[in-house]
Amino acid sequence: MSKQLLLTDYNLNGLKLPNRVVMAPMTRSRADNAENAPREDFEAEYYALRASAGLIISEGSPISDEAIGYVNVPGIYKSAQIEGWKKVTEKVHEKNGRIFIQLWHVGRMSHPDFHKGEKPLAPSAINPNAQSYTPEGFKDTVTPKEMTIAEIKQTIEDFKNGAKNAMEAGFDGVEIHSSNGYLLHQFFNGTSNTRTDEYGGTIENRAKILFEVIDAIKQVMPEQKIGLRLNPSLDGPFGMTMDKETIPTFDYIVNKLNEYDLAYVHLSEPFTDVSDNDFAVSEIAKHYRPLYKGTLIINAGFDQEKGNKVIEEGNADLVAYGKPYISNPDLVERFEKGVDLTDWDEDTFYVPGKKGYLDYPVNARD
Ligand SMILES: Cc1cc2nc3c(=O)[nH]c(=O)nc-3n(C[C@H](O)[C@H](O)[C@H](O)COP(=O)(O)O)c2cc1C
Repeated sequence: MSKQLLLTDYNLNGLKLPNRVVMAPMTRSRADNAENAPREDFEAEYYALRASAGLIISEGSPISDEAIGYVNVPGIYKSAQIEGWKKVTEKVHEKNGRIFIQLWHVGRMSHPDFHKGEKPLAPSAINPNAQSYTPEGFKDTVTPKEMTIAEIKQTIEDFKNGAKNAMEAGFDGVEIHSSNGYLLHQFFNGTSNTRTDEYGGTIENRAKILFEVIDAIKQVMPEQKIGLRLNPSLDGPFGMTMDKETIPTFDYIVNKLNEYDLAYVHLSEPFTDVSDNDFAVSEIAKHYRPLYKGTLIINAGFDQEKGNKVIEEGNADLVAYGKPYISNPDLVERFEKGVDLTDWDEDTFYVPGKKGYLDYPVNARD
């Protein structure tokens, strides 16, 4: 029997992956220390247990104080955080793994509780009417402050600085978080961006910040190590809604990304049923594969069978698994040996402590 495609190797623009199983970025909120720094006996241990993945993408890591919108998430803008992430990358590399960091700014999904009472920043003053996970639990989001041009430029600098710090911390690359209703995604959609300056109004203007972020990051690391994430048909979750220009905006973005020699573009299939939504595309991998010439990672709702199938059909190169990776550190070995997967426990996704974090079995490993 020929090898399943998920378990075949792949050249990620110079980085050799032993298989095509990617660990999707997942916030786990275990950095409950004063500096929000990763620790050897928490994050380092957690990621090292998953080092057999073809590629690990870390949890979203804030690039500045302004970027924070969730409690206890490990950042990438203070020296203690860089030192903490060094322990993570060292341990993953010791186990022969590869790890990118996800660079994150949540924009209007944040809450004044994270900013000494100040409003969070966003492209426009439009409340997502969602919930923010604050130190006191979930709270309703507020109407954010429309960013000035100076604040936009500073944010681009913060992304660049985050990438520079990531290189210092030993990461194999970075993933720009331009997905899931967070800051960069808020710029793309006309329902969250009603600016009338150079960052709004037209498709090109709404997409502009992403390309400025990529160009800034390219100054501190090779573009072959830069990836980014997009969720074009996100409609509902994280306060995001679509309109008739949403998909044309993503089509423009993906087409323009062909001008770069990036590590990858990481796409999500719709998080909700969008079959009744005239503005949405229901099959993201199928729609974007012909548009993008580089490496495509696809995510959301995949199991082993569907993962092998999407590669076989030629609609993606790599498959990212989220929740299955929470409860199956040995996901690759389970796919190899056909071992049943362990269920994940949602109650321990975001709580402090090792329970539901470091205690899932690795049965398929020996
Ligand atoms: C606990 C949890 C935390 C997540 N945190 C992030 C994150 O920090 N960044 C991100 O881009 N996506 C995040 N996601 C979304 C996942 O990367 C993924 O898109 C989603 O779980 C769907 O994939 P799955 O069906 O394989 O779980 C998170 C998902 C979960 C379950």
